[in-house]
Amino acid sequence: MQDKQYDIVLFGATGFTGQLITQYLSHNAEKENIKWAIAGRDEKKLKSISSSCMGLKPDTVVADVKNYDSLNQMTAKTTILMNAVGPFNTYGPDVIKACLESKTHYLDITGEPSFVASTYNLHHLTAEHNKVCIVNCCGFDSIPADFAAWLTALKLPQHEPKSLKGFIRTNATFSGGTLTTAIQALHMEAKKISHKVKLKRHPDTPKISLKIHYAKEIQGWAIPMPVVDPHIVKRSIYGLPESYGPAAYAQFFVRTSFMKVLKTVLPIASAMIMVRFKFFRDKMFKKFSPGTGPTEARRAQSKFEVICFGESTTAKAKTTFSGGDPGYNETSKMFSQAAFALLDLLKNNKAKCGVLTPVEAFGMPLVDRLRAEGIVLE
Ligand SMILES: NC(=O)c1ccc[n+]([C@@H]2O[C@H](COP(=O)([O-])OP(=O)(O)OC[C@H]3O[C@@H](n4cnc5c(N)ncnc54)[C@H](OP(=O)(O)O)[C@@H]3O)[C@@H](O)[C@H]2O)c1
Repeated sequence: MQDKQYDIVLFGATGFTGQLITQYLSHNAEKENIKWAIAGRDEKKLKSISSSCMGLKPDTVVADVKNYDSLNQMTAKTTILMNAVGPFNTYGPDVIKACLESKTHYLDITGEPSFVASTYNLHHLTAEHNKVCIVNCCGFDSIPADFAAWLTALKLPQHEPKSLKGFIRTNATFSGGTLTTAIQALHMEAKKISHKVKLKRHPDTPKISLKIHYAKEIQGWAIPMPVVDPHIVKRSIYGLPESYGPAAYAQFFVRTSFMKVLKTVLPIASAMIMVRFKFFRDKMFKKFSPGTGPTEARRAQSKFEVICFGESTTAKAKTTFSGGDPGYNETSKMFSQAAFALLDLLKNNKAKCGVLTPVEAFGMPLVDRLRAEGIVLE
């Protein structure tokens, strides 16, 4: 581990999610014995957030995505940069570039498939060469799905072809930043300017049908969604053949009635059409203000469950990964614990390099940490 001023700098600490992550880091900073700082473009906001911290108060670092030198100066100060500045398709590329240049490990909470694909396509080899660990999707996207699929695969005979199906249930609501990011991602899909990763599949990989269907195993309607999780799990399958063997993964969102399926699918289908028109796009961006999100009381009622069912030729397995408010409270926990796990791995010279998935980068040490923090993983 290089001797840098900070172990962790959290960039985007002034955002809705960034402020919750700051509080989580602050509560745990002493126990984890970390030197840390929060970063963003507004020094006044940063200072006020730092002084509101209930635990160890962080230093502040001013950096703006639109000023590349400021990004370089920020990343040069820290061993790990935690990035919560979104939309990542817009703001992420230069932050990753600065991390690669200053040999800084990088984690983020993006859920944008195109950004994740371009990060892998453009930077995997450089990250390996520079001995840097870059991990997208260290929040609700995609830690639960990635770990539920991996733990399920580990219970099945390695050499047998296996089908892994993830089912997600949640009653949570979203922040303005998440909704703005989703609109931008849908727009990129509609314009067909999204990046994709092409990976070679094992010839024995089974096929899983991606249709809306009634799934007996969870007694609910299953809807395939255009989210990032399947892309991440497929990269884990590709990167960890010793865990998975030949395996396919598909993911579904669960609704309890067909009426609820319509209530979920129709707004998404109409949003996919409307984002093509600037007039509607601008209206949607205006509706969802950055910096806003579900109240503490609403988050306290939110919960999620990801259940992965695995089936190989001779065996079956099932993993449940569940917790409280997925997008914000539990994302703060998963993201911070991922950074702590990486610090441990670096101290023990066990960290891997490259553009990695959460399972590839953090493995069992993160499972142990999340269980200790109240996440159910069984
Ligand atoms: N995958 C998951 O599970 C998950 C969960 C939660 C959030 N997210 C993602 O995380 C991102 C943030 O969400 P949010 O709800 O926290 O959004 P938000 O409240 O809008 O926060 C955005 C953050 O980006 C900062 N920012 C914007 N432009 C910047 C610039 N030029 N330079 C430096 N910082 C800049 C903002 O700083 P100012 O305060 O100065 O404006 C703010 O700190 C979104 O992309 C969202 O989709 C993902």
